[in-house]
Amino acid sequence: MTTPDRTATSANPAGSPIPITRADCQQRDANDPLRKFRGEFLLPEGTIYLDGNSLGPRTNGSAERAQEVVADEWGTGLIGSWNSAGWWDLPAKLGEKVAGIVGGGAGSTVVTDTTSINLFKAASAALKMQAEDSPHRRVILTQRENFPSDIYMLQGLAEQLDDGYEVRLVDDEEVTAGFPTTMSDEVSLVVLTHVNYRTGRLFDMGTTTSAIHSGGALVIWDLCHTAGALPIDLAGSGADMAIGCTYKFLNGGPGSPAFIWVAEALQNRFSQPLSGWWSHAQPFEMAPDYRPADGIRRYLTGTQGILSMSVAELGLDIHSRVDMEQIREKSLALSDLFIDLVDERLADHPVEVVTPREHAHRGSQVSITHPEGFAVMSALIERGIIGDYREPEVLRFGLTPLYIGFTEVWDTVEALRDILDNRLWDTPAHKVRGAVT
Ligand SMILES: Cc1ncc(COP(=O)(O)O)c(C=O)c1O
Repeated sequence: MTTPDRTATSANPAGSPIPITRADCQQRDANDPLRKFRGEFLLPEGTIYLDGNSLGPRTNGSAERAQEVVADEWGTGLIGSWNSAGWWDLPAKLGEKVAGIVGGGAGSTVVTDTTSINLFKAASAALKMQAEDSPHRRVILTQRENFPSDIYMLQGLAEQLDDGYEVRLVDDEEVTAGFPTTMSDEVSLVVLTHVNYRTGRLFDMGTTTSAIHSGGALVIWDLCHTAGALPIDLAGSGADMAIGCTYKFLNGGPGSPAFIWVAEALQNRFSQPLSGWWSHAQPFEMAPDYRPADGIRRYLTGTQGILSMSVAELGLDIHSRVDMEQIREKSLALSDLFIDLVDERLADHPVEVVTPREHAHRGSQVSITHPEGFAVMSALIERGIIGDYREPEVLRFGLTPLYIGFTEVWDTVEALRDILDNRLWDTPAHKVRGAVT
């Protein structure tokens, strides 16, 4: 896709105008040290893919890896592949790779199940630890704007425990301020998503964790929107537990398994509520009594989707080779450019940037609102520029530095300008919603 090489001037934080041209963007792409990673992902010709924060694109070699698992490991190796192809060890092997990407430390992480299920396990284990140490604590705090599945899982767990547990929702501002009004000696657990999925607001893991610990509560971080998107120092932050998915910024594939990390000091106190045989100390003893494995295998439950897990490994391998600081630097440069261009070029339209402008509070996406957001996104997708829409009115654009460049950001905002200036969104076809938005 190409657009005319027009000059935009936009205000930078210092207030001086910066002329930005498409040629400037092309130049920045040519000098981009991460450009070499583009070939590791397969995208349809002519597509600008700004939805890697929801489903990362296919990794090079993923179809071949799936073919190998089906034809060789399953087809020829048959049941022997649990040993010979290393299927049994995949959750821990992949967990080690995730730990490297999120600063978890060796022997701390497994890849397994879904984020929702891992949250259930982690929250249940955390509440049990707290019930032993501080039985009066019965409140779970989480963000009002957390991804709804996290809230639903906590509500379901509280109801299941039927022991006076209560889930309280807090605003993002309260989290950023360190819980000045909601932390108390009633709070047992705080569950926080590291980046608000809708606005892209980032929370400081270290200071927030310290504030929670000062209040005597434990914390679980949901890293779905940050694992693979920015540098994380899980172990260094003092966090207690973390969960996250591999299908967004880590390019694991649709429905690829999630991960769960537990701080070393808590590992053998982790009591598994879904105590399936994969978490047993000696699963093949087939003993009638449950005895948890030592260490990370105790976070497992049952048999895993080996095909999905095998393909997910390719995305983890790419991210294991990348300097996360370089990713962050480019991600912020991309989102700065996006925001500057929106400010300058869409100024005549009822568009608002809802992603924080301060780098310290910004994840790897830009979200803007428009009263006809759904139809506008539909018109953009028709042109091969794929972002997504979230209620209410939010258009989300995931910025993934390994395969998105500055020119694509330019072209996206230019396409948006054309769609808005000419009301190209205002057709019946752009107002029809599918099951997934
Ligand atoms: C922040 C966050 N948490 C949890 C989930 C739920 O993940 P899953 O469907 O894998 O359980 C998602 C899904 O997009 C998410 O974005």
